[in-house]
Amino acid sequence: MSDAAVNPMKAGLEDVVVSPSEICFIDGHKGRLVYRGFDVDELVAQSSFEEVTYLLWYGKLPTRKELDTHVKALSSTANRKLPPKLIAMLKLLPKKTTPMEVLRTGISALSAFDPDAADNSREATLRKTIRLTAQMPTLVAAWDRIRRGKPPVAPNPRLSLAGNFLYMMSGKKPTPLATKTFDVALILHADHEFNASTFAARVTAATLSDIHSAVVSGIGALKGPLHGGANEQVMLMVEKIKDPAKAESWIRKALADKARIMGFGHRVYRVEDPRAKHLKRLALELGKQAGSTANVEILDTMARVVSAEKKIFPNVDLYSGAAYASMGIATDEFTPIFAMSRVAGWAAHVLEQHGNNRLIRPRSDYTGLTDEKYVPLDQR
Ligand code: SDX
Repeated sequence: MSDAAVNPMKAGLEDVVVSPSEICFIDGHKGRLVYRGFDVDELVAQSSFEEVTYLLWYGKLPTRKELDTHVKALSSTANRKLPPKLIAMLKLLPKKTTPMEVLRTGISALSAFDPDAADNSREATLRKTIRLTAQMPTLVAAWDRIRRGKPPVAPNPRLSLAGNFLYMMSGKKPTPLATKTFDVALILHADHEFNASTFAARVTAATLSDIHSAVVSGIGALKGPLHGGANEQVMLMVEKIKDPAKAESWIRKALADKARIMGFGHRVYRVEDPRAKHLKRLALELGKQAGSTANVEILDTMARVVSAEKKIFPNVDLYSGAAYASMGIATDEFTPIFAMSRVAGWAAHVLEQHGNNRLIRPRSDYTGLTDEKYVPLDQR
């Protein structure tokens, strides 16, 4: 037993408080999510993703002038475009490379082209944050086009971040409903306290490493199916079920087989995730516009059965994919979309960590051997 057993171990750091933070509050019992004091329900109804990024990074809602300057920075071609050499690098990758692998690789490579790469000051980190938030949608859309053998679509500075992403993915201006839906999805995924990917970003920032490295850490953690990768897994499940009439028997068998059902359960929420209701509404609206609500009907049946049988409830990943699928977005783009939004939260936490830093370095409860005697190789 090591001398580290000063605090009893909590598997997965469950409910362990690591540090204070003013960015995001979650009430897991009431199902409440708050960004810098503002309930996410209110932000969904009245704000935009661009305004929410300002709120997360600067800690207050912007004035009209501040917002105009902020939106201009986030939508300028200079900040949205990718270096031509990076696009050339993407074209060298095997076409089967997944969008999350490309995102992880592309963000890492972008630091090589960033004029502030070596500067970790708050001002430089904010400039890099704006560039990263503006470039990620361009990177995700560029790869989707390249892997389909199509030329990347140049960003349109006159469109919002949500509208521009949908435009770069399809080459066509998106409908107002699709743009609004996507903007709401970006608001809902922007931050979530010390979730695994944000904590990974904070651990990286706590060594005084840079924002690009912290974002790459976040992308790596988000990729896993227990975290951001769940939204893709949910859609694969829905595609297997296909027919809403088969949903009940399918989910009951999965539960009987003790399967882990993606899109349900949460480390903090003990009730339904407050984001799920918005994503369900959007998925339904878009499904109706696209001419089929079958996916939502399947998910509703799953939610009814899993909630009743297991008392575990829908989380943010249950309905998001159905909304994206109705916009013609491929399933393996769902987690990169999560990352395009969560980079706002990762950056806010990196800035906060850098602003009041202490290296994050927990201990292990050593249970291995001690005092072993070395045996020369020829005597083993
Ligand atoms: C996100 O942390 C965040 O804030 C994350 C996030 C964010 O915005 O950043 O909200 C985004 O990652 C949402 C979660 C997406 N992941 C999934 O949908 C994957 C499926 N969910 C589960 O794997 C699980 O609920 C976790 C990982 C989300 C949370 O797991 P915990 O807290 O470690 O709980 P656990 O695995 O110890 O489960 C406790 C019990 C177990 O039963 P017993 O073995 O004790 O009998 O609940 C059961 C589990 O089997 N359980 C599930 C389940 N989730 C928990 N059983 C079936 N299906 C599930 N989804």
